[in-house]
Amino acid sequence: MKIGKKIHRVPICSSTNDLAKELAESGAEQGEVVMCEEQTKGKGTKGRTWYSIPGKGLYFSILLFPTRPDLSLLPFAASLAVRDGVFNELNELISLKWPNDLVGEGLKIGGILCESSFSGRKLNYSIIGIGLNVRHKKDDFPAELQYNAGSLEMTCREKIDKERLMFVICRYLEKWYRAFLKNEDQKILKAYLESSCYHIGDKLKVEAKGNIVSGLFQGLDKQGRMILEISGRNQRFLSGEMNIIEVLNL
Ligand code: BTN
Repeated sequence: MKIGKKIHRVPICSSTNDLAKELAESGAEQGEVVMCEEQTKGKGTKGRTWYSIPGKGLYFSILLFPTRPDLSLLPFAASLAVRDGVFNELNELISLKWPNDLVGEGLKIGGILCESSFSGRKLNYSIIGIGLNVRHKKDDFPAELQYNAGSLEMTCREKIDKERLMFVICRYLEKWYRAFLKNEDQKILKAYLESSCYHIGDKLKVEAKGNIVSGLFQGLDKQGRMILEISGRNQRFLSGEMNIIEVLNL
């Protein structure tokens, strides 16, 4: 299966994920990619906005027709593809922050937004949206993000060919998507944990169901839920069920 054989390049769109959905609904094929230079309504996870200023970032979405119903590890496979693509192309090690953040030198440099369409319980298609800050300087981010956001050129300090990087990420996505389809969940979770910002035993302060609690990170379960030991008991969280506030043991 080839990802990126057909690329739809547009200078500007509301969101490459939304454009990919339109293409999916008008007969596009698995592996087609939409990329743009600017998004006017770039979407992040949890209903947030993804700032997508012109020319600076890599904004692209991939259309897939997964043949397995449980999609919970698909964002992990996508994160691993970005990690490997960035390392292969730029020799830069990035970290993966559960559940779908990409981190360089402690700053958020990108994220993944997977969206899927169902008819009842039948999966129609999935879209993997990847946003990477590439050419941004500190001042390019809105004030509230300036201390947490970074870009690949801030960390690698070299000129990056965005399109080439996208193709390399697509090559690795073929590899990790194949592993996903073959149910190689342990391989995906192990690789993810190897690059995780959180390590077993880290003490995390989180907000869950309106309460602020702290717990010890115990890893990820088979569905990629975070396992936290809270007051001596292991509890599992989906990403939508909690927000991590900080790591307390640093
Ligand atoms: C996040 O970290 O919140 C996820 C960000 C995902 C952003 C990408 S940019 C390309 C694609 N199109 C979108 O509207 N969002 C994703």
